[in-house]
Amino acid sequence: MSKTNSKFEWNNPLATVDTVTITFEGETCVVPAGVTVAAAILGHTNDHICKSAAAGEKRTPYCLMGVCFECLVEIDGLYNRQACLEPVYEGMNVKRQNEVIDKTK
Ligand code: FES
Repeated sequence: MSKTNSKFEWNNPLATVDTVTITFEGETCVVPAGVTVAAAILGHTNDHICKSAAAGEKRTPYCLMGVCFECLVEIDGLYNRQACLEPVYEGMNVKRQNEVIDKTK
């Protein structure tokens, strides 16, 4: 974790916040420490975070509280992680999940 001026200017553009560096789809992102993966990604891109299992439609986080499952991502090789419930940490590698992974089959 480092302390630096973040590109995120959510409340106070002059504030100095603790940040962590994560990777989303191969792109390095410096994000505020303590936010969820969903918040970090929403601050980074306007594009989708996953695709629905049923129709393959692009999805973005909706409820941000673990209910809708519209935010499934792959985190450090683990599938089906709810981005809205996972806090970011230094070195985290996040990828879009474009299908529901059923590890029981
Ligand atoms: S945004 Fe609804 S479960 Fe994550």
